[in-house]
Amino acid sequence: MAALGGSGASVAGTVRVPGDKSISHRALILAGLAPGASRVRGLQDGADVRATAGALRALGIEVAPDGVGVRVGGGALAAPAGPLACENSGTTARLLAGVAAAQPFASRFVGDASLSRRPMARIADPLRRMGATVTFDGPDARLPMTVTGGELADTDWTSPTASAQVKSALLLAGLLAGAEVVVREPHQSRDHTERMLAARGVDVYVNDEAVLLPAGQRIAPLDTTVPGDPSSAAFFVACAALAARGTITLPGVCLNPTRTGLFAVLARMQATVEFDDVAHDGGERVGTVVARGGRALVGTAVDAAEVPAMIDELPLLACVAACADGETVVRGAAELRVKESDRIATVVENLRALDVEADELPDGFVVRGHGPRAFAGAVRTHGDHRLAMAFGVLGALPGSDVRIDDPECVSVSYPAFWRDLAGVVGR
Ligand code: S3P
Repeated sequence: MAALGGSGASVAGTVRVPGDKSISHRALILAGLAPGASRVRGLQDGADVRATAGALRALGIEVAPDGVGVRVGGGALAAPAGPLACENSGTTARLLAGVAAAQPFASRFVGDASLSRRPMARIADPLRRMGATVTFDGPDARLPMTVTGGELADTDWTSPTASAQVKSALLLAGLLAGAEVVVREPHQSRDHTERMLAARGVDVYVNDEAVLLPAGQRIAPLDTTVPGDPSSAAFFVACAALAARGTITLPGVCLNPTRTGLFAVLARMQATVEFDDVAHDGGERVGTVVARGGRALVGTAVDAAEVPAMIDELPLLACVAACADGETVVRGAAELRVKESDRIATVVENLRALDVEADELPDGFVVRGHGPRAFAGAVRTHGDHRLAMAFGVLGALPGSDVRIDDPECVSVSYPAFWRDLAGVVGR
């Protein structure tokens, strides 16, 4: 693989990252719920978003490419003939559970081995309280799960975790059932659902503590474009930050402040990360991310308040921290243990396999970095796309020999990742 960083190496180039995964799921689902035709451009084409499209089709919604994007014929849903296959995608299962909770039929959700280990009580409990019936095949609240809905009551739910999937499931359930929904969370999670509902004519009120969806509203169809995914852009920002010199430019990236936490933390570690051409598009802040190399990075501390805006980037931060000087400590991130893998355990296990000093904390990790260097060893992804890409960044450092067991798992969110990475490093 081509290399970055080190004495003579540099990065250069422009990467147009795929459409944002969270917004892609929501664009399909909201289009499916709005009576009439919607069009979605710039949809991400990873396996997770395909799972949402497939589940919507199983619920009787037409989702078809139309040459410009994807055309979605939304309206009433129909009872699915078979299970809704959510594959590896927690967002598919949890958001569509909210939709299913307002339907007068049973929807059965299944997933792959990883998704079948992830907790579903966080949506089952509040949806049951609204009046839906949620059952599990086994003793634990894990997939397979069956949701049977109908009329739902108003709710005021305090979520113990900051989770946009929980918040979105409840907002969708309330919208479809005509019920009022209030969701409170310890720290604000990503707010795409709220913004996208507002763009489609639905009133949603948000303050620091809660989101409120008034009862009895309807959603309108819309023609929208999905901006680039900051979680995908993050890998290239990290590449640039670890390089001796050079610039990587990432146009059209979603710069929603509930998603850009890693960029702020990298800047605090002394990396050069700038936003250009910032504009508002479809309710989202979108702009060009410019990341430059040539700076020595220093360790930092991340606490619970900062975690939601960078939850999916924490494996990458751990890898960057291995190349910084000093200790990086992440706390308040116990949620990492219930992602596509236990990302506290898998990140530390793999850093240690590369001879990096790293320790698990119950709710985070500590990484002791000694500046940029080459890394060698075998990485086990546990099928987790973000692990593959985070360690792929270390593998691109000059002299590195990082063998990733399942590089193809990047197809969950970024099928062309390895091609795009090779295109910007070592030139
Ligand atoms: C997502 C929310 C986050 C995030 C996931 C996508 C979403 O999960 O980790 O990758 O699209 O709503 P939680 O809501 O469980 O924190």
